Amino acid sequence: MSFRIQPAAPARPNRCQLFGPGSRPAIFEKMAASAADVINLDLEDAVAPTDKETARANIIQAISDVDWGTKTLSVRINGLDTPYWYRDVVDLLEQAGERLDQIMIPKVGCAGDIYAVDALVTAIEAAKGRTKKIDFEVIIESAAGIAHVEEIAAASPRLVAMSLGAADFAASMGMQTTGIGGTQEDYYMIREAQKYWSDPWHWAHTAIVAACRTHGILPVDGPFGDFSDDEGFRAQARRSATLGMVGKWAIHPKQIALANEVFTPSEAAVTEAREILAAMEEAKAKGEGATVYKGRLVDIASIKQAEVIVRQSEMIANA
Ligand code: COA
Ligand code: MG
Repeated sequence: MSFRIQPAAPARPNRCQLFGPGSRPAIFEKMAASAADVINLDLEDAVAPTDKETARANIIQAISDVDWGTKTLSVRINGLDTPYWYRDVVDLLEQAGERLDQIMIPKVGCAGDIYAVDALVTAIEAAKGRTKKIDFEVIIESAAGIAHVEEIAAASPRLVAMSLGAADFAASMGMQTTGIGGTQEDYYMIREAQKYWSDPWHWAHTAIVAACRTHGILPVDGPFGDFSDDEGFRAQARRSATLGMVGKWAIHPKQIALANEVFTPSEAAVTEAREILAAMEEAKAKGEGATVYKGRLVDIASIKQAEVIVRQSEMIANA
């Protein structure tokens, strides 16, 4: 380990972030009653420009009126390149109740974007005497966002989570794709006349996970657009979980159970992790730093790997 210890990410479940447009208040109660860990009420791209003001008012009212239980409650504001974002922040911070947990900043491109929102939020919190500090989460969904991902992750102590937004990301990168995440038909290799599909999102996922883990932030996989394709969602989510992400967005209620399933360590995985820890305890008692578990090497590093799974499972069970 470096002299600088890796900070822990917030210990709260973030398996599924359920989105709903602020212009559709009829679904807010359903969102609150869902099994999602995080609720994202949207002011940005799911809301038409003519609906921005009513969406803001709907959300401000619902933050206080709806019983959000123990969920993390987040509002996605408009991007810093729009004429809407400052009013989103001012109205939310001046008018919304203390139940609001987080602001999600979309399309961040550099640390300065977060600095700007932080300055505004900090001033309003002080002016209004808000006692609960608002957290931030950001979406990496542009070439600049991924190029500056590490400085973004380090930009503010308010930052708790970072998502990959596949559709805007693909557009900004000039990728020749249309689907929101998942397998891309033309991203394949050929061997002996067989096609083997690869994962065009892989490097962006790993860059985000590395930046997040360096700075104690939760890495999250964003939307999967085809909500009729459960197996496609599972495959995408399992790849993200394997790479270290803690959860995924749901853009339809159908996807909540899928995300919860994938990002809750399975009983089999937890049992195996506990067995590895037990095997290493035995090895330690004999003064050994390595041993054999089911015919394979386990050593001190295996303890840390197993602990990731056990800790995640216990944190979810105790939430
Ligand atoms: N949260 C909670 N409940 C939702 C919901 C959501 N995001 N979207 C739909 N529902 C409800 C519907 O009200 C309906 O409830 P009912 O059975 O009581 O009538 C049920 O789930 C089934 O909905 P369905 O008819 O399949 O979907 P729809 O046509 O009403 O809406 C979408 C589909 C995709 C437009 C809608 O899910 C949506 O707006 N998703 C979020 C989009 C978003 O915020 N995007 C920004 C981030 S990428
Ligand atoms: Mg987007």
